[in-house]
Amino acid sequence: MKEIRIILLGLGNVGQALLRLLEDNDAYRSEGAVVSLHSVFDRGGGIRADGRETAALVAAKRERKTVAGVDGARAVLLDEALEETRGDGILVDTSITDADTGGPGLAPARLALERGTPVVFASKGPLVVAFDELSRLARSSGARIGASGAVGIPLPSLEVGVLGLRGSGVTRFRGVLNDTTNQILRDLESGIALQDSIARARLAGTLEEDPRLDLEGWDAAYKLLILARALWSPTLSLGDAETRGVSAIGKAELDEARSRRKRIRLVATAERSSDGDIRLRTEPEALDAADPLYLLGPGEKALVFETASMGTISLRSSRGGPVATAACVVKDVLNLGAPPKPFF
Ligand SMILES: NC(=O)c1ccc[n+]([C@@H]2O[C@H](COP(=O)([O-])OP(=O)(O)OC[C@H]3O[C@@H](n4cnc5c(N)ncnc54)[C@H](OP(=O)(O)O)[C@@H]3O)[C@@H](O)[C@H]2O)c1
Repeated sequence: MKEIRIILLGLGNVGQALLRLLEDNDAYRSEGAVVSLHSVFDRGGGIRADGRETAALVAAKRERKTVAGVDGARAVLLDEALEETRGDGILVDTSITDADTGGPGLAPARLALERGTPVVFASKGPLVVAFDELSRLARSSGARIGASGAVGIPLPSLEVGVLGLRGSGVTRFRGVLNDTTNQILRDLESGIALQDSIARARLAGTLEEDPRLDLEGWDAAYKLLILARALWSPTLSLGDAETRGVSAIGKAELDEARSRRKRIRLVATAERSSDGDIRLRTEPEALDAADPLYLLGPGEKALVFETASMGTISLRSSRGGPVATAACVVKDVLNLGAPPKPFF
């Protein structure tokens, strides 16, 4: 059995769901690995897990304490945590997304990768701000990066786009990568006020700490950018991309689309022309019924790849939210820490 120890950054919706999965779900044990928690960090610093029950940590967060305030907590610095887990540690970043600075996960990710410790991101910030730099660090130290939680969970977009369609000449991919926004559009269509819809999303744990990331299209645009960098070019930027969210869409516009048998949804599209020019855009589109994105229901996401030699390949998922995100983190942790056996 391979032992994998997690250094967890962030103990919000996703971090807590991850701890519960590790505690409750035995599925990963049949994957030839034992995954345990080494340490956990939040705004107040880090503590050693010390075999502490998940419930005690979750209870502290419910009381709005930092983990350092948990009874008997033993403080640890990131540096120490990385040193102690050298060889079997993985840094998991479930801290807040900040795409201006890279957020609290960027500096720890640099440190981990420099030392050869793999990093799994649920947060998008570090890969928006420093994708190329982090990939180079990973390549030079031999550590690897997982980002399934940062590109529209739980669609296996990176695995399919980078591995599954290898050599097929992906020319375009487009998708609904942010189900929160589409839930908001559905709510507005049925007459629910924007503020009430935002409150529902917050309660479900699917809204970004800064709701503008969802409402103004940035969350979907960042996911698109990370995917396009992984598939096509690590130095792509959102510089020339068009990004518009749903905050300017009102019921009248939605009703007007409906009267034409269309539905407005936030769609993210990446296109590469035959001369290699790449164009990214994220904006509300009025979709007709023949569009594979038209039928998506609550919590659903989809991504459609168009290729030169394999035709069109579609992915569609039924569940979003913190638990599915945590499950994507577990998948990445297993794939990096205990690589899968060959298919045959
Ligand atoms: N929620 C979802 O469904 C979902 C889906 C896909 C991806 N994501 C991504 O996953 C990440 C986590 O989402 P979430 O819903 O769990 O967010 P959240 O509930 O807001 O939790 C964020 C966590 O980050 C911690 N944090 C803030 N500043 C920190 C710092 N300087 N050092 C260490 N930790 C710090 C917070 O600490 P405190 O507890 O001390 O405040 C909190 O525990 C986000 O980047 C989000 O974009 C979320």
